[in-house]
Amino acid sequence: MALKRRDFLLFLGASAGTVALGSCSSPAQNGSGSLTQINPNPDTLSFKPVKGPLPLESDRVPSTKQIEAYSRYEVVDDLVLPEGFTYDVIGAWGDKVGDSRFGYNNDYLSFIETGQNEGYLTINFEYISGGTWMQTYAQVIGESLPFEEVKAVAAKSEGKINAFALPDNDPLKAKIRQISLEGLIDQGLGVISISKTADGTWTRTYSTADRRITGISGYEDDRYLKATGPAVAVFQKAQGQGYQDGLGDRIIGTFQNCAGGTTPWGTVLSAEENFQDQVPEPVYADGTSFDPAALPFVINDYFVDGRGNVFGLAGNKYGWMVEVDPADANDYGTKHSWLGRFRHEAVAFKVVSGKPLAVYSGCDRRGGHLYKFVSKDTVSDPTDKTNSRLMAEGMLYAAVFEPDGTGRWIALTPTTPVNPVLPSTVEGSLVPLPKRPQGGIVEVTTDAEAVAFKQQFATLGDLYAGNDLEKQGAILIDAHFAANAAGATPTARPEDTDMAADGSLYIAFTSGSPGGDGGPDKRVFKGPQGETPWEYGWILRLVENQDDPAAMTFRWDSFAMGGEPAEGGAGFSNPDNLEFDKNGNVWMVTDISTSKHNQPVTSRVNDQGESISQTDIQGIFGNNSIWCMPTSGTMAGNAYLFGIGPMECETTGPFFSPDQKTLFLAIQHPGEKYGIRKDNQTETRKFVIKTLNGQQFLQERYVPLGSNWPHQGTTEPPKPAVVAIRRLDNQPITMA
Ligand code: FEO
Ligand code: CA
Ligand code: CA
Ligand code: CA
Repeated sequence: MALKRRDFLLFLGASAGTVALGSCSSPAQNGSGSLTQINPNPDTLSFKPVKGPLPLESDRVPSTKQIEAYSRYEVVDDLVLPEGFTYDVIGAWGDKVGDSRFGYNNDYLSFIETGQNEGYLTINFEYISGGTWMQTYAQVIGESLPFEEVKAVAAKSEGKINAFALPDNDPLKAKIRQISLEGLIDQGLGVISISKTADGTWTRTYSTADRRITGISGYEDDRYLKATGPAVAVFQKAQGQGYQDGLGDRIIGTFQNCAGGTTPWGTVLSAEENFQDQVPEPVYADGTSFDPAALPFVINDYFVDGRGNVFGLAGNKYGWMVEVDPADANDYGTKHSWLGRFRHEAVAFKVVSGKPLAVYSGCDRRGGHLYKFVSKDTVSDPTDKTNSRLMAEGMLYAAVFEPDGTGRWIALTPTTPVNPVLPSTVEGSLVPLPKRPQGGIVEVTTDAEAVAFKQQFATLGDLYAGNDLEKQGAILIDAHFAANAAGATPTARPEDTDMAADGSLYIAFTSGSPGGDGGPDKRVFKGPQGETPWEYGWILRLVENQDDPAAMTFRWDSFAMGGEPAEGGAGFSNPDNLEFDKNGNVWMVTDISTSKHNQPVTSRVNDQGESISQTDIQGIFGNNSIWCMPTSGTMAGNAYLFGIGPMECETTGPFFSPDQKTLFLAIQHPGEKYGIRKDNQTETRKFVIKTLNGQQFLQERYVPLGSNWPHQGTTEPPKPAVVAIRRLDNQPITMA
């Protein structure tokens, strides 16, 4: 899937209704000289790219000067933006929201305008970074929790405690409940009202719609979440093979809310991603959950997870897409089970009057699939709020990507033939399939086992139990494993899915490495020279046949590929969220895992003289960052570095205001590795990096340890926070 611009443009030309688009362009900015600025190309860019840790083509530094220009590099504990841009903090962890607080690890952002320069900002709070959360909790929230006592007890059993089984009067259970409760309060989503003042800054206006929907909503306050679709039939069963929470279709809370999407009718969809960190993922053939004991509470120096355990939360109620109307103060969310249960990431909508609604979503696990829901009924008015009902009936499909650039959709329904993915086709040769009759999954590693599975079960209906509706519900609950059994393509951690103005779907695949969950199809997910595994990710583009939301076939191609420029990559690693501006440029943020940030690379070969793996050189890419990529014209597929996040953070949730003057951005988990940065602590590290010609040289890099962001001081606790980025001249961030 090399980025071959000629092929890509041919592909663009062949698709329906491409439009002429600008290219991150706007009037040139004058002036230079800042250490974080590189020579601009003033004729084509609306900003001067910031200087990243690696030489990039867009730097316009001649190859003879690259070694000199990049032999020293200083990483900064701040959100670094191009000259002429600034940011304001709108809200941070611990701030008051409704009758609760601003949660931890903000991710997806959605701004819905209610009037000129005012509206609702809906914010996802994905997870808590255990170590840093515990280190800073008392200081930020103003109360202490019994972390050390519980940690000491848990240490006797590998950090794990099945609190669900403890007697209710056990004081340890009360302490675990207290910690779990506060952790779950810091997850979920929130709605805040904001408006822009005359000087261009955004402030909170605290309307009655401001509220939190937390990981534990409903538990003590009857603010249950609702559910639609066939999984409701499973939730309502009086008796099942596994654990039932006794609440029927009422659901306690939403957590691990990572990316999302905003509908044309003004609601927000919030994606429950790594729910398996808090509740058991596996289910029985009838779709009921494993006992809470299957995922005990865990606490150690790094993690505070399994927080559903003490409350007896049912695993099958998490891993869904949640719809919320920010404007309705009484709406605490609805989980639409037709959209499937898996490690959901962003959603994209194809909304065409007179056609069924299509909702796309990826499953961010190694070997996860791309899915499409198609509604039974058709859209009449795309802006009509009653469109939400379309998600209550339809069909869920999973994608098959053929190596030749074609693809098709497979229905996840009882009549679909079993035709499992062959382990020999996937990176790491691991394909998890439903384990029958025991429930849960079996890890299949040979083609012979997959063929035997196919001989044993004819259709998906043979793998799931109940009446027709209950079987459909169980398939949706177990969507990932059902999709593996049906032969959907294992992919490379699909993160964002975003719909371009021309109707094509852009999909960010974060990482092509295999792992304990599986790996991607190695015939499809390859590096520029066919290398597998390719860690650094891709952005693919999918065009439905006839641009039809209900199409059952599609074409796909590569738009951009992560990696070092000298190896044919675009200069970034691990693309995550995408956001289109009105000129058709796609803005992208990266998700290099925290453990890899600025990890030294003192050699490109090991002691045996062999090249070290891509995952071992990810440190060269520095901090997570923000990129702008034109989608048409001569610059299509090129990546321009717009910003760099503070230390140990992820830049998430980019969302443009309708006037394009503000880019809302979430800074997630600053200081996730080293916690509070104390007294400007910095380490000098060495990196073997490459010029654009592939010449290796040594870079000395100054790396702050920990973070104080958003404070600019030297002792403060780092806090996840949401910012508004704007130009100082009050012009749109990109202009045609
Ligand atoms: Fe939470 Fe897949 O990012
Ligand atoms: Ca994400
Ligand atoms: Ca997006
Ligand atoms: Ca991510």
